[in-house]
Amino acid sequence: MRVLHLSHTRPGMNLSLMAGIAYMVVIFGLTAPPSRAKEKGCMDAKCHAKTMGKKKWVHGPVAAEACDACHVALPKKKHKFKLAAQDAELCYGCHDAQNTGKNIHPPVEAGECISCHNPHESDNQFNLIAPSGPELCFTCHEDDKTKQEYVHGPVAVGECAICHEPHSSPNPSLLRTSGNELCFECHTEIQEALGSNEYVHPPAEDSCLNCHDPHGSPVQFQLETKTNLRDLCFTCHEEKKQDLTLPVQHGAVTQGKECANCHNPHAGKFAAMLKLEPMDLCLSCHNRPVQADDRPLQDIAKLLKENPDHHGPIRQKDCSGCHSPHGSKYFRLLNAVYPKKFYAPFKLENFALCFTCHEEDNVLEEKTTKLTNFRNGDRNLHFLHVNRVRKGRTCRACHETHASTHSKHIRDAVPFGKWSLPLNFKTHDTGGSCKPGCHKEKTYDRIKPVQY
Ligand code: HEC
Ligand code: HEC
Ligand code: HEC
Ligand code: HEC
Ligand code: HEC
Ligand code: HEC
Ligand code: HEC
Ligand code: HEC
Ligand code: HEC
Ligand code: HEC
Ligand code: HEC
Ligand code: HEC
Ligand code: HEC
Repeated sequence: MRVLHLSHTRPGMNLSLMAGIAYMVVIFGLTAPPSRAKEKGCMDAKCHAKTMGKKKWVHGPVAAEACDACHVALPKKKHKFKLAAQDAELCYGCHDAQNTGKNIHPPVEAGECISCHNPHESDNQFNLIAPSGPELCFTCHEDDKTKQEYVHGPVAVGECAICHEPHSSPNPSLLRTSGNELCFECHTEIQEALGSNEYVHPPAEDSCLNCHDPHGSPVQFQLETKTNLRDLCFTCHEEKKQDLTLPVQHGAVTQGKECANCHNPHAGKFAAMLKLEPMDLCLSCHNRPVQADDRPLQDIAKLLKENPDHHGPIRQKDCSGCHSPHGSKYFRLLNAVYPKKFYAPFKLENFALCFTCHEEDNVLEEKTTKLTNFRNGDRNLHFLHVNRVRKGRTCRACHETHASTHSKHIRDAVPFGKWSLPLNFKTHDTGGSCKPGCHKEKTYDRIKPVQY
């Protein structure tokens, strides 16, 4: 007679049941006809000991040679056995039930413990039939997780168990921790970003899985898209997709990190989760001559540095006052119509951009004593230059849009075909003068009009 001898026990072991089984072994050992197994000993050198008990991990009762804890000899049959209980019930005789959680892994639910555990022994810890991790999981699951181009760190090293319970869990998808808390266990910096910033992206607060696949994806950062970053954004911001059909496109939206060139997808200090103060953001790229379709564009940072007299909206650090960052109907991504050329027949709508902020009467009234300082006596020189059926001068003929060295943003020179036409503008208390390439020097005076 042998008593079930267990090397050691662990929390979670069903001790009372084990004691019960040990007890039964003792009782049956005394009263029942001695089983064949015990008669000779299954682990006699000539029998199962040849093949069993040699692996790295041997199941407790096997190590204790308590074969009969699980195998019951059938009476009057030669070396025929039945299992002491069916499926999981066999295991639950000694172990805690594993099918009690809210969400139960189907093979556990079905009692197929031995689809993952070898009942006797194994080279893998926990007597698993394959090493814990992908090899085990992919005996049943299709390996669509590690074959992606971008695989999540812990998945790439096979740590399925860091996120998943093998048996059951209170959380969906057998997760050890639910919701964003799971991700925050490792990505503390993102948790801090969501907690400490004024502008938080609602989908990030809701669930990281709105945008990231926990396992892998064809797109960097395991983004939840098959194509590119911006298509992910368009799944919720459909209206922004329309901007990409507008005639004037901004390279910043489709190159490099795309939308994430300018927006932080999680949270940020600035409105719309911009990565920098709006103007600093624009100047982080426009601090060199970036190449547009037609030519390299001016280095705006340099321009602003060299020309200290900045236009109002730029003083307010607002490039978006005139430019649409995502795309536009109008050249140079402008928010409204503005003539491209030096001359344009006068139509008020042509200057919609300037007149979103400035008084349009400036160019509509032929005579004035207050609308503008650009007048000779009461003769409105804005009207004179701009408001013409043919060859109306556009604002650009005289004004810089971003910054200048002269007050009123008067230009030094204006591109005229291939020539840079100088303006030679000067001001004095009651008027000014210019000697442009257009005509000989002319002077205007608001108090004592010059006679022409
Ligand atoms: C924890 C329960 C348990 C213990 C203890 C146990 N077995 Fe098993 N044994 C099983 C189960 C379950 C099966 C598989 C039945 C099946 O595949 O349907 C099995 C199958 C077998 C088989 C069939 C061939 C095979 O390997 O699948 C043999 C032989 C066997 N056991 C011998 C032993 C011997 C000898 C011992 C004692 C050293 C022992 N078992 C201890 C549960 C146990
Ligand atoms: C007769 C009692 C008994 C039965 C029945 C039994 N086990 Fe065990 N099991 C043990 C003992 C004892 C240990 C060793 C405990 C230890 O090492 O902490 C153990 C260990 C294990 C371990 C390793 C645990 C660890 O922490 O290393 C696994 C896995 C396991 N059993 C699975 C099963 C499965 C699956 C079944 C059903 C096929 C089963 N057991 C049936 C008694 C039993
Ligand atoms: C899908 C595979 C799978 C199935 C099915 C499965 N297990 Fe496990 N089991 C594991 C893995 C993997 C571990 C190792 C756990 C870890 O790494 O934390 C484990 C660990 C264990 C352990 C030891 C650690 C613990 O949680 O106490 C026991 C006991 C155990 N399983 C019993 C069972 C029983 C009983 C069944 C059937 C009801 C079962 N297992 C079904 C995969 C499985
Ligand atoms: C013995 C087969 C088998 C093994 C091994 C197995 N699974 Fe499963 N698993 C299933 C089946 C069957 C389902 C249900 C059908 C499905 O979702 O594919 C399932 C479902 C799941 C689910 C979804 C559960 C839910 O509530 O939506 C997760 C997560 C999962 N398994 C993880 C794992 C992990 C992790 C491993 C490795 C530790 C693993 N599985 C190993 C058979 C298995
Ligand atoms: C970083 C945590 C993490 C790791 C590591 C991880 N998973 Fe998951 N897994 C998840 C999350 C989160 C879900 C739920 C996905 C959802 O709801 O869309 C999930 C879902 C699943 C599902 C359910 C079906 C599906 O694809 O949504 C299976 C199966 C699964 N994982 C298997 C695995 C396997 C196998 C491994 C190891 C190769 C693994 N997981 C590693 C977090 C993880
Ligand atoms: C167990 C720790 C752990 C958990 C849990 C975890 N991650 Fe990760 N994650 C990592 C590691 C490690 C890397 C790889 C580190 C690296 O590349 O900088 C990584 C990388 C990433 C990356 C790509 C970063 C890069 O720079 O390429 C993203 C995105 C990511 N994880 C999102 C998530 C999300 C979403 C969750 C929750 C579903 C999550 N992680 C849960 C450990 C974890
Ligand atoms: C709205 C979509 C979206 C959501 C929701 C989202 N992410 Fe991201 N995440 C991204 C994008 C896009 C990137 C790539 C950013 C880049 O290229 O600079 C990224 C990058 C990352 C990175 C790597 C780069 C870094 O910033 O460290 C990690 C880690 C990460 N996300 C984790 C998370 C976690 C954790 C959550 C949930 C709290 C989450 N993400 C929610 C879109 C999202
Ligand atoms: C799962 C849906 C979802 C995805 C994917 C998503 N967003 Fe959002 N986003 C929202 C919601 C909801 C809001 C808040 C409501 C709103 O302002 O439209 C928001 C707000 C924003 C805002 C701030 C709007 C404001 O007025 O302040 C920006 C900027 C933004 N998202 C950019 C992005 C970018 C860039 C991406 C891709 C990396 C992205 N979003 C992907 C749902 C999403
Ligand atoms: C060049 C920088 C830049 C890029 C690239 C960019 N944005 Fe923006 N985005 C901005 C600025 C600046 C604002 C604030 C605009 C304002 O104040 O009118 C903004 C505002 C937004 C808003 C909220 C206000 C609105 O216009 O609806 C959303 C949503 C948004 N962007 C989504 C996106 C998406 C999606 C992408 C990628 C397709 C993207 N952005 C690419 C600079 C950018
Ligand atoms: C990530 C770099 C980047 C950022 C940030 C950026 N731009 Fe650009 N921008 C470019 C590139 C590259 C081009 C040239 C390609 C093109 O024309 O689209 C360009 C072109 C332009 C053009 C001329 C468009 C044309 O084709 O005529 C304007 C105007 C412009 N940007 C304004 C802005 C404003 C305003 C901001 C801030 C809201 C900004 N940019 C932020 C990269 C950037
Ligand atoms: C008052 C309106 C206004 C503001 C504010 C403004 N822009 Fe412009 N921007 C224009 C106009 C008008 C043009 C077209 C100029 C032309 O072709 O004469 C232009 C042209 C450009 C160009 C193309 C330059 C070239 O070489 O053709 C870039 C780049 C640009 N702006 C960037 C910016 C940046 C960056 C800011 C903020 C620092 C900004 N703009 C603020 C009106 C403005
Ligand atoms: C987004 C609003 C806005 C737009 C669009 C705009 N401006 Fe301005 N402009 C201002 C502000 C604000 C001032 C500063 C007024 C002040 O300092 O009193 C200013 C000042 C000026 C001045 C100097 C006035 C002075 O008294 O010093 C001139 C000249 C000027 N703008 C011309 C233009 C031209 C030409 C356009 C069209 C290309 C234009 N503006 C478009 C807002 C705008
Ligand atoms: C022929 C040159 C010329 C053209 C064309 C021109 N301006 Fe001016 N503008 C001036 C001069 C010179 C001043 C400065 C007057 C002074 O203060 O002595 C001025 C001043 C201004 C001012 C400051 C307020 C005022 O009127 O004194 C604004 C605003 C302005 N212009 C807007 C515009 C707009 C908008 C356009 C295009 C519709 C335009 N200008 C076209 C030469 C011009």
